[in-house]
Amino acid sequence: MKKRVDVDYPYSSQTINSLSDLQCKTVLIQTISAILILGVAECTVKLSSTLQYPAINCRKHSAVLTEFGAVGDGKTSNTKAFKAAIDSLSKHASDGGALLIVPPGKWLTGSFNLTSHFTLFLHKDALLLGSTDESEFPQLPPLPSYGTTIRRFTSLIFGTNLTDVVITGNNGTIDGQGATWWTKYPSGGLLNVTRPCMIELMYSNQIQISNLILINSPYSFVHPVYSSDILIQGLTILAPIDSPNTHGIQPDSCTNTRIEDCFIEPGDDCIFVKSGYDQYGIRFGMPSKQLVIRRLTCISPDNAIISLGSEMSGGIQDVRIEDITAFNMEAGLRIKTAIGRGGFVKDIYVRRLTMKTTKYVFWISGDYNKHPDNGFDPKALPEIHGINYRDVVAENVNVSAKFDGITNDVFTGICISNVNITLSQTPKALQWNCSNIAGVTSNVTPKPCNLLPEQKGVVCHFPEDKLPIEHVQLKACSATTA
Ligand SMILES: *[C@@H]1O[C@H](CO)[C@@H](O)[C@H](O)[C@H]1NC(C)=O
Ligand SMILES: *[C@@H]1O[C@H](CO)[C@@H](O)[C@H](O)[C@H]1NC(C)=O
Ligand SMILES: *[C@@H]1O[C@H](CO)[C@@H](O)[C@H](O)[C@H]1NC(C)=O
Ligand SMILES: *[C@@H]1O[C@H](CO)[C@@H](O)[C@H](O)[C@H]1NC(C)=O
Ligand SMILES: *[C@@H]1O[C@H](CO)[C@@H](O)[C@H](O)[C@H]1NC(C)=O
Ligand SMILES: *[C@@H]1O[C@H](CO)[C@@H](O)[C@H](O)[C@H]1NC(C)=O
Repeated sequence: MKKRVDVDYPYSSQTINSLSDLQCKTVLIQTISAILILGVAECTVKLSSTLQYPAINCRKHSAVLTEFGAVGDGKTSNTKAFKAAIDSLSKHASDGGALLIVPPGKWLTGSFNLTSHFTLFLHKDALLLGSTDESEFPQLPPLPSYGTTIRRFTSLIFGTNLTDVVITGNNGTIDGQGATWWTKYPSGGLLNVTRPCMIELMYSNQIQISNLILINSPYSFVHPVYSSDILIQGLTILAPIDSPNTHGIQPDSCTNTRIEDCFIEPGDDCIFVKSGYDQYGIRFGMPSKQLVIRRLTCISPDNAIISLGSEMSGGIQDVRIEDITAFNMEAGLRIKTAIGRGGFVKDIYVRRLTMKTTKYVFWISGDYNKHPDNGFDPKALPEIHGINYRDVVAENVNVSAKFDGITNDVFTGICISNVNITLSQTPKALQWNCSNIAGVTSNVTPKPCNLLPEQKGVVCHFPEDKLPIEHVQLKACSATTA
């Protein structure tokens, strides 16, 4: 793996305290007056910062993983302890829900399944280690919107058909120990099974994933699929630059999603929006829509800040992207599609994007000609319409824009306003390479291609109304460890 020079991994300095603040709290609750004073002297500082967390829903019941026989030595498998804990806590689903606390320690585990009305909480000194033993990961059939052959290892943390699920912590860490998986199942090989994601939730709603450090996922990190009402907040996501397909956050056929205040430096795109592949995605017909992405910091030297597609056959609509800062990337927003995809990418809004060192600022490709099999319909053309960018500053750029529409399928309604691009010392001679596209620009340097003529005074649209997920407010929760 290439060595990183740009950031220090925040987890490297992490220490595991032998006296957990949870133990402190338990002691405090169980002890009376005299000893309480002693306890306070030892534990107050930690107490005030522990087991208080913002969430979509607080829980009435709680338990600590060690109550179910878990061993935090980094070597013992705790898959059974997680299963026992979650099976037990699932009984509270209809009575106020439950919280499972992962205390300080190194907790090795294989794949486990979440339940509804449930919170998984990682203490700041908890390190959850993903097992590298394949037998700890059951296999699932392919996703119906992606095709018929490739099975999938269940993600490390998995849930399906759930409602009201929270995965959070005080910046506790999940390490997927992906290196073994990356070597065993490299991309491009002949595979009949895909590597496990770190967190995947299917057919679920009311999801919160927040305040965690996620490192070295075997595959994509966070994959909500066929789900809705999703809040993703305060994640730090890190994987080596050349780790294969370690996308940061991957909303897939999801509705009403809010991603904010994340720092992402993965081996692939920071955010990857999808909705199914060719004939399978068209048949399944479930778009990714109502997505807001804001206050994201991204480093992605060989990939994009945000990719829409190429698997977009169920459609991608109403994506609002704002206040993005990125360093070192191949492209800013990238839209990828091809003949055979069908579907649409429309009503995309971007504003306040700051980029430093990139190959392309704007990149739309209509020729991303990979297909799941030969059964795709060559008449299924994607509709690309209403792509709005404004207030963009980019420095050290090789190519301002590469826009490749499809012959007889012009990509329309492209709007670009108030954009300053400063070129690198080795820029391409052709800065705007455009074909089969139509739209307007205003106040953009360097001068755009003739297919995007200047229309003075245009300010590209960004919706001022709010998506339903933007109205969701978090409650101040605190745990009552019994
Ligand atoms: C989790 O649920 C899925 C789907 O029901 C199932 O296939 C898988 O075996 C479960 N995983 C575990 C570890 O029990
Ligand atoms: C989960 O929900 C999907 C879509 O509603 C349904 O097709 C599937 O049968 C459900 N699975 C389970 C295990 O309930
Ligand atoms: C978690 O980490 C982020 C990023 O480093 C930081 O901004 C935030 O304050 C931390 N939160 C907690 C609860 O420590
Ligand atoms: C820009 O082009 C130069 C010369 O080809 C190359 O060395 C550099 O890596 C490119 N920069 C990016 C960000 O792709
Ligand atoms: C671009 O540069 C011009 C002239 O220097 C400036 O007026 C404008 O505010 C800049 N736009 C952005 C988005 O920074
Ligand atoms: C412009 O784009 C077309 C289509 O992708 C490509 O074939 C051509 O080489 C590009 N031209 C330059 C000068 O980069």
